[in-house]
Amino acid sequence: MSTADFVVVANRLPVDRNTDGGGDGEWRRSPGGLVTALEPVMRRTEGAWVGWPGKPDLEFEPFDFDGMHLVPVALSAADVEDYYEGFSNDTIWPLYHDVIAAPRYRRNWWEAYQRVNRRFAEAAAAVAADGGTVWVQDYQLQLVPKMLRDMRPDLTIGYFHHIPFPAYGLYSQLPWRKQVLEGLLGADVIGFQRIADAGNFARAVRRQLRYETKASGIRVPAEGGGHRTALAKAFPISISTDDYIELAQRPDIQARAAEIREDLGNPKTVLLGVDRLDYTKGIRHRLKAFGELIEDGRVSVEDATLVQVASPSRERVESYVQLRDEIELTVARINGDHDTWGHSAIRYMHQAFPREEMVALYLAADIMLVTALRDGMNLVAKEYVASRIDNRGVLVLSEFAGAADELASAVRINPHDIDGMKDAIVRAIEMPAAEQGRRMRALRKRVREHDVEDWSRAFLDALASAARSNSPAHSAAGARAISTAATEAEHRA
Ligand code: G6P
Repeated sequence: MSTADFVVVANRLPVDRNTDGGGDGEWRRSPGGLVTALEPVMRRTEGAWVGWPGKPDLEFEPFDFDGMHLVPVALSAADVEDYYEGFSNDTIWPLYHDVIAAPRYRRNWWEAYQRVNRRFAEAAAAVAADGGTVWVQDYQLQLVPKMLRDMRPDLTIGYFHHIPFPAYGLYSQLPWRKQVLEGLLGADVIGFQRIADAGNFARAVRRQLRYETKASGIRVPAEGGGHRTALAKAFPISISTDDYIELAQRPDIQARAAEIREDLGNPKTVLLGVDRLDYTKGIRHRLKAFGELIEDGRVSVEDATLVQVASPSRERVESYVQLRDEIELTVARINGDHDTWGHSAIRYMHQAFPREEMVALYLAADIMLVTALRDGMNLVAKEYVASRIDNRGVLVLSEFAGAADELASAVRINPHDIDGMKDAIVRAIEMPAAEQGRRMRALRKRVREHDVEDWSRAFLDALASAARSNSPAHSAAGARAISTAATEAEHRA
């Protein structure tokens, strides 16, 4: 089997199996942001991607797709239930999002998490070239870095955590808190979205493992005696800004934006929410604020429509099933009380749309509402800003989303403060064009100057230098592969 100098390991492959037409189906690219983020590096390095094909019991040999070498890891129905729906999305996800929903600690889920993490680590170990670099992604695979280091001490290992890392007082609930920290510390570089996440992680390491930390470095006892340094640092993720700008410039997409407004009955103000249907996103809080504004008479249904796109997600996990019921009940109540024949208060879509349609929606929306109670980054906020090539529109942004650290010119809100959120929405509705322009230009500058290629370059540069200082002899090939990637990206920048 061929090996690769650069390997990405993520829970999902960048493709999924389209079985819509019946039969066995065919591969198609999945819409996720991570694919877009890593695809350029994958191509340049002829890298491999290890991941799950997204449905239970799909067993496939490694194959090439769109210039990427893909290595599927099959999960049985029981794996999906215990590792993915259970430990990943009913233990870690709620715990790491500040227990907005109650995490469930089940020992058989932990068993499955270890077992499946090992399988991912084994697949990566089998495909990585001697001295190569492996980049592990996200909370589903926190044990992979250490497992991989034990199997393949020659590798350079990076890990990026896409979601928040919680404060110590919450993290310490986890019955397996030491093992998870040790798992992550198998990496040479552990990347987080916010400085605060990296700080929470370092504190947990000090308290639980008593390792020394200094600036971003953590002194980790090395396998053969002595120590190595793991770097824990913030690398805020971004989007492929140019792709959004290009779409927003397309006449057909601009026409589609006008058509959407027309279809909504041409209200003066279109407000928009776009989220995976998840309790971390603050959709209920947003609906409550909007409903009260109508009730109070501060917003009229004739003048303002809220479009809420809630894409289906993790539909077999109980807390998601409940959330969907609550949201749909709330939408129906607000609409039932306030709709007129010509205008709806809320247009709710439990659907996912292609990127072209999303950009048309962004262009159609005067106000974008990002009201997350906790969110690693929130790329929707950045997508909205990138798409507003007209420098118009208002971003209302929760301070609990990672994006708030960078997007300082948004209208900031605390989504728990319903009155504050209502005032912010009214302010956004009434904001003069000049102020919209001033704010939007500042927001766009940030998103243009810091796109997803900068993100991967910054991470991989840090990884290459960490590898050089940790084990100069071993890391030659990997460092070569990734620093070439970084240099080429620089040339194009
Ligand atoms: C978040 C996570 C990703 C995950 C995505 C979709 O963004 O950070 O790791 O892939 O949600 O969730 P799903 O469970 O469908 O993969």
